[in-house]
Amino acid sequence: MLAAAAAATVSTAQADPITPYVVGGEAADIADFPYTVALTTPDGFQFCGGSLAAADKVVTAAHCVEGTSPSEIEVVSGLTDLTAAGGETAEVTDVWVHPDYSDPAISADVAVLTLGSDLSAPPIAVAGPGDEDLYAAGTDTTVLGWGTTSEGGSASDTLLKASVPVTSAADCATAYGSDFIADSMVCAGVPGGGVDSCQGDSGGPLVAGGKLIGAVSWGEGCARPGKPGVYTKLITFSADIQARLG
Ligand code: ARG
Repeated sequence: MLAAAAAATVSTAQADPITPYVVGGEAADIADFPYTVALTTPDGFQFCGGSLAAADKVVTAAHCVEGTSPSEIEVVSGLTDLTAAGGETAEVTDVWVHPDYSDPAISADVAVLTLGSDLSAPPIAVAGPGDEDLYAAGTDTTVLGWGTTSEGGSASDTLLKASVPVTSAADCATAYGSDFIADSMVCAGVPGGGVDSCQGDSGGPLVAGGKLIGAVSWGEGCARPGKPGVYTKLITFSADIQARLG
C-alpha cells in the first residue's frame, strides 16, 4: 500500500503506465493499530500480514501459510518500521488452515496461527453474529500492511493504511463474475481505483467499527478502476475462528 503520490510526482517524464495503479494510502503508526502483525521468514523477509486475535493467536489468510511448516513463520508485533530495532517476535507452533480453503478458487481464505509465546499487544475482536451491518455497502474500512505501494512495485518498510469503502456484492460480482463467492468474500475499494491493498498485504487486517471484518485475499492487479480488493469475509467463518481462539 502506499505512500504514494510522492512516487508519482515525476515532473518531466512521460506518463508511466504504472502510475494509475499506485496504491494511495498514508503512513500508519503501529501504536494506533497494535493488533497488526507482520509474517516473516526466519530470515526476516516479510511475506504477509496478520491480526492478533488473542495473545497467542493470529488470524491471517490461508493462501499465506498453506503447506508452510510452523518453523518457517515468525510473527513480528509492535513495529511500525520493520527494519527498526525493538518490537516483539513470536515463533509459530501450529498452523490451522480452514478445511474449506481451496486454491485456485481462494474460498475460505483464512488461517489461524498459534504462537509459542504471548504477545503483549492488545488483540482485535473478529466480526461475529450481530456484526452483519459492518459489511453493508459503503461502510468505511481501514486496511493495513507493509505490502507493495504499487502494482508490481516494491514493498514498504513502514506500515501503511488506506481507507476503502465496502463494495456491494452486486458490484463485486460485476467486477469478478463467478470468481466472486459472496459467502466467502467481501470487496472493498474506491470505484475509480487508486486506493487498494496489494501484494504482501495478504492476510492483513480489514477493520470496520473496531472489529476485524476481513483479511486481505486477492484482486485483479492492485487499485485498478472497477477492480476492488477482495477480502475474506470473516463473519462467515466466525464460529470456526472462535473455536481456534479458545
Ligand atoms: N494475494 C496478495 C498477497 O498475497 C494480495 C492481493 C491483494 N490485491 C488487491 N488488489 N487488493 O499479498
